[in-house]
Amino acid sequence: MQSFPVSDTLKRLPEQFFAKLVKKVQALSSEGHDVINLGQGNPDLPTPNHIVEELKTAADNPVYHKYSPFTGHNFLKEAVATFYKREYDVDIDPESEVAILFGAKTGLVEISQCLLNAGDTALLPDPGYPDYMSGIAMANANPVFMPLLEKNNFLPNYQQLNQAELEAAKLLFLNYPNNPTAGVANKEFFDETIEVAKQNEICVVHDFAYGAIGFDGKKPQSFMQSAGAKDIGVEMYTLSKTYNMAGWRVGFAVGNTSVIKSLNLIQDHLYVSLFGAVQQAAEKALLGDQTAVDELVATYESRRNVFVEKLQEIGWNVQAPRGTFFAWLPVPEGYTSEEFADLLLEKAHVVVAPGNGFGEAGEGFVRAGLLADEERLAEAAARIGKLGIFKTSY
Ligand SMILES: Cc1ncc(COP(=O)(O)O)c(C=O)c1O
Repeated sequence: MQSFPVSDTLKRLPEQFFAKLVKKVQALSSEGHDVINLGQGNPDLPTPNHIVEELKTAADNPVYHKYSPFTGHNFLKEAVATFYKREYDVDIDPESEVAILFGAKTGLVEISQCLLNAGDTALLPDPGYPDYMSGIAMANANPVFMPLLEKNNFLPNYQQLNQAELEAAKLLFLNYPNNPTAGVANKEFFDETIEVAKQNEICVVHDFAYGAIGFDGKKPQSFMQSAGAKDIGVEMYTLSKTYNMAGWRVGFAVGNTSVIKSLNLIQDHLYVSLFGAVQQAAEKALLGDQTAVDELVATYESRRNVFVEKLQEIGWNVQAPRGTFFAWLPVPEGYTSEEFADLLLEKAHVVVAPGNGFGEAGEGFVRAGLLADEERLAEAAARIGKLGIFKTSY
């Protein structure tokens, strides 16, 4: 059979770092081992029932069996505006300041196509969610990595960036609460970001995928809550994490009208909008009873408490994450991130993601997802403890 060579665009796509890990996990599981997989970011709990029921009812509506309007149904855009007002006291114009997305991932990749030409510069976090790089690579633009260091609370330090690169940059990706570091941002940081972005005419893309998941009673800050945010950027939100709807593929971008227009334009060419019944169920999620969201956050928080406590008990000095459903754990001396992740996999049958898979500055850490119940998380900590790597004080 003829094998067709791929385009230069596809050749530029970054390697899927975690594919190797997935293979190793599959091999161990197929040998019958009881593997505790904390290596992925796939929410483990189901979508709240009232949202699923709304989809079932909506699926019967013949209006949705036709093509949806290209940029999505107005009712969903209006629901997004109501959601932002209710949750963040931010005014969003449903017509010009909302783009409906097939999940945040789609928008995060599309935005590079929308705003970058070949050779342009984009700033992105290191470590960071790998898909920012996918879009930048497809646009044939140049990435400049902003290290997220523990000493800076995993926030980029704009003063330390090269001035010429800052001036050249057209796009800046941020993500708080942060995957993978679990760092959180406050209003002062977003205010500073807006100032830097305005000075250098950079479009800010804030990935707010974990916007609902803040612990210890602290609600994560939206970028849109800072004055001037809409002048200089957009925020991408997803229903994947807030409502356990990762498989449904629904998200949205809000903010700067010119960017929203560009996102809608590229989507006009790539797709017709989401299945109307999914849009109706998404409206229900955003506007309906939010009890399930509070319960979900409480579940992650109590998993976090158990996991961190048990890891500290075995002598692993870890920080409690303040948001997201990830823990960013320092690798003990004498191991690289990959070596340590391999050791946990092979000897404890516990899967974590090596930090260097998220970028060079992720070296020295592994990421564990709080995506198993408390018992399994405690079991994972106990198995790691049995390896005798950490010195306990007793
Ligand atoms: C930081 C971050 N952004 C975006 C996404 C993608 O979200 P969605 O399911 O809406 O595409 C994820 C998913 O893991 C993520 O961790």
